[in-house]
Amino acid sequence: MRKVFKILGYLLATLALLLLCVAAWVKFTPMPTYAPKSLPVVIPTDSAALAVGRKIVEVECTLCHLGDDGKLSGRLFSKPDDPFGVIWSRNITQHPNKGIGTYTDGELAYLLRTGVTRTGSWMPYMLLPNLSDEHLGALIAYLRSDAPLVQPSESDPPPAKYSFLAKALVKFGLFAPKVQEIKPIETPPATDKVAYGKYLATAMLSCFKCHSASFETIDDFTPENSPGFFGGGNKVDDPSFNVVLSSNLTMSKDFGLGQWTEDQFRLAVQTGQRPDGRILSPAMPRFAAFSDDDISAIWAYLQTVPVLENNVQALQAK
Ligand code: HEC
Ligand code: HEC
Repeated sequence: MRKVFKILGYLLATLALLLLCVAAWVKFTPMPTYAPKSLPVVIPTDSAALAVGRKIVEVECTLCHLGDDGKLSGRLFSKPDDPFGVIWSRNITQHPNKGIGTYTDGELAYLLRTGVTRTGSWMPYMLLPNLSDEHLGALIAYLRSDAPLVQPSESDPPPAKYSFLAKALVKFGLFAPKVQEIKPIETPPATDKVAYGKYLATAMLSCFKCHSASFETIDDFTPENSPGFFGGGNKVDDPSFNVVLSSNLTMSKDFGLGQWTEDQFRLAVQTGQRPDGRILSPAMPRFAAFSDDDISAIWAYLQTVPVLENNVQALQAK
């Protein structure tokens, strides 16, 4: 009998040691890196393209990168007690070494499609795999332009301190870049209203990311496969890290936009004012720079999205 206990004891001790080694490996070894690449991209120079680039950057990048100096100089991006650690976004102004001055256009294009940076680290937060090649070029042109937002800033945000959980997820490969084959992507013609509206709501702007069930389960590559697609209920932080649940944007008569008119929708999206007069939380960006035609196309597309009877107000009350 004593012999059995002894063997059991050795086994347990070996197991404990093994776990300790795995934990030490997770905690102390550097994060994995991924091969950076360069994609062919055409950078436009005309003012119409720059205006498009500006619209995309102002709603998509300022959210996380707008610093105290009013430039895209980086800021604390994780909330207090964030399970993934203390994460700062980077200085993406034109500063030669503190910003992205040394990135080539092709490296920036690869980063925005896949999240892999030129040093091989990984930015999982804002992938634009379905943005058209034309608009990707416009976005990069704007980052290179003389706009005040992107002029060199001296700001130097500290590197991310990832938590044990974040490191474990990445090192066990549960959270890693999903690099898909990169094919040419054309902008759908604005005359095809539903297709263009879908493009705006899923590929160019991040409506579906905030308005589906959860950031953790969205599908960047095939947006329609995201659980709770456009049904709302996702927990979105406003700039002061208060959590606001996103709204159901499907045409549910009881819980979504089924009773709204297109004019009411346009007003809410451009200015943040709901039909009942309530002003939406700043967790919902304002799309004032987008034309009535753009918003009209998004509205046309939302009519085709499967209705979800998700009662966000009941969730909010919990
Ligand atoms: C949800 C937040 C978020 C959004 C939105 C976002 N980023 Fe980032 N970005 C980050 C974080 C956080 C990092 C730093 C990642 C790290 O340190 O591992 C980063 C890193 C980067 C880098 C790498 C910089 C370097 O030093 O290598 C670039 C370039 C970049 N972002 C560009 C953009 C652009 C362009 C947009 C808009 C299309 C954008 N980001 C939108 C959070 C975001
Ligand atoms: C960064 C996250 C985020 C993005 C991106 C976003 N929204 Fe929202 N949206 C929210 C949140 C959160 C609310 C709820 C705000 C509140 O209740 O005060 C909201 C509310 C709304 C509402 C009001 C609905 C209602 O019932 O009151 C509309 C309409 C809307 N969003 C449309 C859009 C469209 C269209 C897009 C893309 C062009 C978009 N949103 C992109 C977070 C987002």
